[in-house]
Amino acid sequence: MILSAGTPCTGRSRSAMVVVASIFLACLLFPMGLQSRPGDKPASHPWMNTTLSPDERAAMVVKEMTLDEKITLLHGTGMEGLSPMSPLAIHSNGGAGYVPGIPRLGIPAIQMSDAAYGVRSSGENGRYSTALPADVAGAASWDLEAAYEYGALIGRELRAQGYNMSLGGGINLTREPRDGRTFEYLGEDPVLAGKMVGSVMKGLQAQHVLGDLKHYALNDQESGRNAVNVNIDKRAARESDLLAFEIGVRESNAAAVMCSYNRVGGDYACENRYLLTDVLKNDWKFPGFVLSDWQATHSTAKASAAGLDHEEPGEIFYGAEMKKAVESGKVPIAEVDDHVRRILRSMFACGVIDDPPEKGVVDVIGGLDVAQTIAEQGIVLLKNERGVLPLDASKIHSIAVIGPHADVGMISGGGSAQVDPPGGNAIMPPGKGRTHWDDQIWFPTSPFKVIRSKAPSATVQYDSGADPASAAALAKSADVALIFAARWESEGMDLDSLALPGKQSELIAAVAAANPRTVVVLETGTAVTMPWADQVGGILEAWYAGSRGAEAVANILFGEVNPSAKLPMTFPKSEADLPHPEIVKPPHRLSDDWKKIAAGLPGFQTTYDEGVKVGYKWYDAENKPVLFPFGYGLSYTTYSYSKLAVAPGKDVVRVSFSVTNTGKRPGAEVAEVYASLPTAAGEPPKRLVGWSKIRLNAGESKEASVVIDPKYLSIFNVDKNAWQLIPGDYTILVGGSSQSLLLKESVSLK
Ligand code: BGC
Repeated sequence: MILSAGTPCTGRSRSAMVVVASIFLACLLFPMGLQSRPGDKPASHPWMNTTLSPDERAAMVVKEMTLDEKITLLHGTGMEGLSPMSPLAIHSNGGAGYVPGIPRLGIPAIQMSDAAYGVRSSGENGRYSTALPADVAGAASWDLEAAYEYGALIGRELRAQGYNMSLGGGINLTREPRDGRTFEYLGEDPVLAGKMVGSVMKGLQAQHVLGDLKHYALNDQESGRNAVNVNIDKRAARESDLLAFEIGVRESNAAAVMCSYNRVGGDYACENRYLLTDVLKNDWKFPGFVLSDWQATHSTAKASAAGLDHEEPGEIFYGAEMKKAVESGKVPIAEVDDHVRRILRSMFACGVIDDPPEKGVVDVIGGLDVAQTIAEQGIVLLKNERGVLPLDASKIHSIAVIGPHADVGMISGGGSAQVDPPGGNAIMPPGKGRTHWDDQIWFPTSPFKVIRSKAPSATVQYDSGADPASAAALAKSADVALIFAARWESEGMDLDSLALPGKQSELIAAVAAANPRTVVVLETGTAVTMPWADQVGGILEAWYAGSRGAEAVANILFGEVNPSAKLPMTFPKSEADLPHPEIVKPPHRLSDDWKKIAAGLPGFQTTYDEGVKVGYKWYDAENKPVLFPFGYGLSYTTYSYSKLAVAPGKDVVRVSFSVTNTGKRPGAEVAEVYASLPTAAGEPPKRLVGWSKIRLNAGESKEASVVIDPKYLSIFNVDKNAWQLIPGDYTILVGGSSQSLLLKESVSLK
């Protein structure tokens, strides 16, 4: 969503006057106390009996509600900058969405905020939020506990800021790595993404905040996202993008699912009966509510019948229009009751009614520690040759730190995920750092400063890299060169290429030619192509590393933390190896095709004919070599695997094996379990079916055990609308990456 640039500091703009007028009007219409807000204590009503189930409690409230009250819950009240519903409603907490409560019935308002890697809009609201490392970095940890902490931190900060709903939990699969929102998501595999988002949501909802999984579904590119019609066959969809949501919904009991902008199979996702009712509500038995992405609602009766429960951010279709549709019989009241019941049920189930948020000061210090720990667990060591890492501060005399803004900060991902940096954008004058939708925001976490503090007796010098020759000259004179290479990515855009932008590839090649002890630290939200990979000694993928990114990177560079992350997506050698050499772009705004879209006809098409072959499944099936495979990541120690045993049981398959730390440092190994299905299943060569992250001291061995859900071994049978295990020989493969699976065992399953 586009946010308005705000009102000037001096003088009174037109919109400021509208705010004043609306405050006056609102005070007349709603004297203090009539609007419920988080923090208000609900009155005593029979449904406040906490021994009743959320369903019972919700049903009791629905019975008492008037039609107008029901309709209040079915839509938001606008968002700043989105005319004609702006300015913000008077009791809005300043987040992306606000739904007034029903004080008469003790139902509090819903205060929604974007919160992908931290709570958004803290700057314009005069608050502070921790920026965690990007969601994709969380996924790279493959650590369910870290994922829980990730969600819990966001939940705590939402509550402290007065919100009771998160618009986080992005889980679109990395089907198209050039998607500008890849950093907000959890990689290319449905089992990894589904289980990780499940843990994030559990941590979040445990703070009594409504969680939300988004963007449902197949919103895998930003280009023309409001018009694109996605074509994919049902089996492939159920086994890929939808499976991620299915696992996420099941693991987390998420309160809400946000339907996406795009169309799928001809219908907009937010009025798509197959997606919302047949699959989400019927097959997966999702008891929560569906809200539309911002301005992704397109109708009243069609959307309601398809299963959309709530319109955001305003009331174009679900306010007065909905009332008319109910009164004229176009929308049955039973349908409205179901929408309302689902919203209330989620509110009871997540505790937002029994335990409303209370504003307080965010735990800044605790938040920074969590952000750093998760960043350290999510930074992937991709290359380490000639012993270039870890750096030994006692032996190094000189370090060249090179790269855009590495003296002051690290870049973050933009769009509605953007978290505002303390003190403002690190590359702006202090105090002038207000963030805007399209700005590239650098967090004030300075690699240069932290590296200097780690190597106090070395000469540490900085060069921006703007002139590769001068950077190379500095590198030549240093013991080691550290290049911080960055790429900004954001909602509302896709990348044309996975290469580093500008002259950064040339810069890296020039520096590496001058000093082979060159380490590249990547600050990106998705895969990178690296024509220079063979020339450098080390490569770290730091993603968007968050508030304490520099500390986390430095701890890995200097070996205070042993890297343990693994890639949640394949890094291809070139865009030519992707399923689609280019992203399909929308027609030109003046073309006849665009006129059709503007007239509400199905938009331009993208066809995911690679189907289930997302990420590594594609490269495996097509025999395409990759730069760095899915599940890959190095450590400063080494591991060996042995003693694989596979035990098919009545309901699950149990896999056990032993992992030994064969090196000299303690570490944590992500042990990955894949399965090859029988040929008759007609599936790609292998799929991830589970993993275990094992912490091991030097020389230590541990037994790991992974229980495989039979669904992960099944195919989706469209005719039977059911998962089906194909009888035959399955091979279970275990190892440290999707391309290093030394343990294998066949098992026959019926
Ligand atoms: C984004 C959503 C976001 C919403 C509210 C939309 O543009 O797609 O992810 O939650 O805006 O800010």
